[in-house]
Amino acid sequence: MNIHMTIFGGTGDLCSRKLMPALYNLYIREELSDSSSIIAIGRRDYTDEQYIDLIKPWVHQFARLGRDLSKFDSFAKLIHYYRMDFTDPSSYKDLEALEQHCCVSSVHLVYLAVAPQYFRTIAENYAKLSTATDSRILLEKPFGETLEDARLLNTSLEQSFGSDHIFRIDHYLGKEMVRSMLDIRRTNPIFANAWNKDFIQAVEISAMEEVGVETRGGYYDQAGAVKDMVQNHLMQIMTILALDQPDQPSIREQQIEIMHSLRKVDPKEIQNQMVLGQYEGYRNEQKVDPKSTTETFAALRLYLDHPRWQGVPFLLRTGKKCKERFSEAAILFKPANEHTAPDVLRIRIQPTEEIHLEFNVKNPGDQAGLQSVQLSFCQSCNDIFHQNTPEAYERMLLACANNDSSWFTSFEAIETSWSYIQQLKDAYRSSNLPVYPYPQNENGPREADRLLEPFSSHWL
Ligand code: BG6
Repeated sequence: MNIHMTIFGGTGDLCSRKLMPALYNLYIREELSDSSSIIAIGRRDYTDEQYIDLIKPWVHQFARLGRDLSKFDSFAKLIHYYRMDFTDPSSYKDLEALEQHCCVSSVHLVYLAVAPQYFRTIAENYAKLSTATDSRILLEKPFGETLEDARLLNTSLEQSFGSDHIFRIDHYLGKEMVRSMLDIRRTNPIFANAWNKDFIQAVEISAMEEVGVETRGGYYDQAGAVKDMVQNHLMQIMTILALDQPDQPSIREQQIEIMHSLRKVDPKEIQNQMVLGQYEGYRNEQKVDPKSTTETFAALRLYLDHPRWQGVPFLLRTGKKCKERFSEAAILFKPANEHTAPDVLRIRIQPTEEIHLEFNVKNPGDQAGLQSVQLSFCQSCNDIFHQNTPEAYERMLLACANNDSSWFTSFEAIETSWSYIQQLKDAYRSSNLPVYPYPQNENGPREADRLLEPFSSHWL
């Protein structure tokens, strides 16, 4: 496909680690043709050659098809670096001239890979250029600092580009095993028929990270784990697991319905709904307030007032500086009786892509009793499967280029999850509940275990 891509934030983390590797993969797959073009915009002063030298090691390290760089030089011919202060309206005219000169394409994508406070400025200035006509705008959370901000930003983007041209990315929706969840439900009657409150006792969703806030202290200290991970990524997974009719095409609408069924926040019960933590040493991170009470860990116990899920807790947790990096969803089935272990279906999203089913069998030989055993499938352990599985951003960029918005987030979903999360946070704050410190390399503070009872023994 002949694609022109304009990236605001060409020297940032997102561009180097995710976007350029994704574009390289698309180039190798011949989804991006030799007549495509990429303009990377940054404030630093680089020539095209210097910029290309800068991104080459990132592509090598992070692109799934980047082990072999024999086609890197031809890929690099698509790239132009453009230095610009995007807060200065007068600099957009030169960008327009460059785009007219270098970049004629059938599909034009504009990625806002910058801090959210610049989204509106860029969108409003860029929309005035002739090259903006028919362009598709991609952006990722946070969509502002408050819900009100998010609404203003959304109105401004829709007025500037038209609602069909806005693609809100939640990159978890591009992950292989998140995509697989719907198929697991709709094609396996053994799960589909048991996917409800009569057979399931709890659903657990974890996204644990070893890294801290790295270079993003300024942004993160304003956001915190709940807005950074729960409101978007974990809520997306929760609603995909919970939706009522996985075989119907109305997935996005059903996800919103599930969000609306979240049990109302009861400020008197908030200590049983949410526990927040902060890793020791967080306050010494760069650009973090030395007295910060921002959470780097969150555990939530949520219920859905929905006929399928009445009484089933959805246990969500996420944290930085934890023991190991992994994201997974686990479905804990009800045990046959009080003496047997529950069956568990674990869907591991990363770092490997795996599915495990834990179930009971007779102890071997003449021993009495039962043992819990595992059936396992590891998709990413197979090198061919691994090499052939698109990365999340690669998938999302291609979907946007194909004008397929089905895996992008609607503003209604963002608004709904944001306003729920805001109620939780307000209730937590007004109840004066502490943000509990936890040591690095631990999976959050001990206080969270209480919330996860009686299922905490099944957490990894
Ligand atoms: C981002 C968050 O959306 O997701 C980061 O802003 C987090 O704080 C990242 O590290 C996790 O993504 P992944 O794909 O590494 O699980």
